[in-house]
Amino acid sequence: QTPARYQVTEATHIHDIYRPRKPFSHKGTFGHALLIAGSEGKMGAAVLSAKACLHTGAGLLTCHVPRCGYDIIQISVPSAMCLTDEQKDHSSVFHNNVATPEAASRYKVIGIGPGLGTAAGTAWALEKLLEHYHSPMVLDADALNILGASPHLLRKVPQQSLLTPHPKEFERLFGKTANDIERLELLSEKARALQLNILLKGRYTAMAFPDGSVWFNATGNAGMAKGGSGDVLTGILTSLLAQGYAPKEAMLMGVYLHGLAGDYAAAECSQEAMTAEDIIRLLGKVFLELR
Ligand code: APR
Ligand code: MG
Repeated sequence: QTPARYQVTEATHIHDIYRPRKPFSHKGTFGHALLIAGSEGKMGAAVLSAKACLHTGAGLLTCHVPRCGYDIIQISVPSAMCLTDEQKDHSSVFHNNVATPEAASRYKVIGIGPGLGTAAGTAWALEKLLEHYHSPMVLDADALNILGASPHLLRKVPQQSLLTPHPKEFERLFGKTANDIERLELLSEKARALQLNILLKGRYTAMAFPDGSVWFNATGNAGMAKGGSGDVLTGILTSLLAQGYAPKEAMLMGVYLHGLAGDYAAAECSQEAMTAEDIIRLLGKVFLELR
């Protein structure tokens, strides 16, 4: 029997959260997401997040990538629009086309981090973005590593944002802990103090919310312990926020569906052979069952 404030996500919780699509919907109904991701040699993370975002149902997606990634994104993800940065990193993105208050208001949600790199120009750019953009964001991977290296930035992250560290990224962000219980307490304390939705990835991903509640996700399997699975989760969460799900709902449902698609991938082609693309492909089966 887990203590009162710890809960485990069940299928019924997801059925209560999920909203079927209304016939008279249009692209705008499902939001415009901006994904800032990718760097030289790590463009695959941006492709995986972008595909996951679209396969989870966002209305529109714009990807901001360094110039080296322009052809890669446009060819790999034809449904996504693409902004490029003439620099090798993302530093100029926040000069001309995103960090301006007007541009920042154009996107319902911003997801940032997969394959981003931690170049000085990118760190500077994230700081500029945090000055202009105040809606809940999704921050993952190198965006979290940049926050860990510049703790003063953490307070500038919009309240209710979703942070998705794996254990190493968690430690860079919030410091070392002696054991899992201490780490869980720290997770919950930071979520409440910073008013952020923070998950800690693993076999049973833990999710701590600003309201003090802590949930565990039981879907997923060791076949997901591969590069790319986390980038897919970032795309899923960004997409659900774009579609208007509340941050806590988006995290509970996104993590559950991500793991369930991973379970279907493992059942179809084994934990060894499944890849992040299989998780994306099986999101369709997951949504068909929600209807
Ligand atoms: N059981 C269930 N789920 C698992 C398991 C497991 N045994 N192992 C991993 N997962 C899930 C995690 O919960 C998480 O959702 O797979 C995903 C892994 O995410 P990440 O660790 O972020 O992996 P990813 O980012 O895709 O690739 C790792 O990217 O974050 C950088 O520096 C990191 O280079 C590394 C690469
Ligand atoms: Mg990751």
